[in-house]
Amino acid sequence: MKKLLKLSLAALTVLALMIAVVGCGGEKTAATDSEQGQNEVKEKLIVAFEPTFAPFESTDENGEFVGFDIDLIKAIAEEQGIEIELKSLGFDGLIPALQTGQIDIAISGMTIKPEREEKVSFSLPYYEAGLIMAVRSDNNEITKPEDLAGKTIAVQIGTTGADKANEFKEKYGAKVKTYNTTDLVFMELINGGADAVINDIPVTKHYIAEKGKDKVKLVGDLLQGEYYGIAVAKNNTELLETINDGLLKLKENGKFAELYKKWFGYEPPEYLPGSPS
Ligand code: ARG
Repeated sequence: MKKLLKLSLAALTVLALMIAVVGCGGEKTAATDSEQGQNEVKEKLIVAFEPTFAPFESTDENGEFVGFDIDLIKAIAEEQGIEIELKSLGFDGLIPALQTGQIDIAISGMTIKPEREEKVSFSLPYYEAGLIMAVRSDNNEITKPEDLAGKTIAVQIGTTGADKANEFKEKYGAKVKTYNTTDLVFMELINGGADAVINDIPVTKHYIAEKGKDKVKLVGDLLQGEYYGIAVAKNNTELLETINDGLLKLKENGKFAELYKKWFGYEPPEYLPGSPS
């Protein structure tokens, strides 16, 4: 009899604990929701990007967002059981939108760099890129940064390409024009409104192959190496861990390599996602 009483007491304690845990969960959600001024529990995470950056993110003929980044974030969401909603934003608006909580995740061929790491948190690197210069195919005047003296460089606003162009403005007296999309950047180059473009090498190469053959060419050496990361709000360690864990699972099960091959045509370097050691 005594034993039975003990047992049922134990059961009751477990039940009470369970209720307490559930209760806490509820309260916590309610608090977070009211902080965000929402009445509903947030079920979908908003993923944003600037979609003129093929093969990472662009819009297809049906108006669907497509690209390596799009496939990658969808695969992470599926692997980790989270629901996402895709949203197009200006590139220079992504970090502010993460900071104010308007979006949850930014995946946009975004380079991991110290100034950004002060404002947001980045996942493990998932792509190795770099900056390159491009000019019109018939231009033989510009072959290196020094040749940019007095010339106009077109760049996308808020990008590392824009940073590099401003550096060349200081050093060599180049002029810098910024645009909201990379489509406009290349259009300006082709139309003669600019003499050079500084942009990420995989995107410029893709542009030349798809639209700019005989019009645009790469010049000079890689200006700097970069790694792309997925960004979340600075204090959102839980989401960051979910993303990193998802990236590692996709590396493990071969899905990362599959998507990488689909968009770039060859196997990813062995260390990705992750840092080269
Ligand atoms: N990697 C460069 C940066 O982080 C350019 C990224 C532009 N991305 C885009 N989706 N338009 O600054």
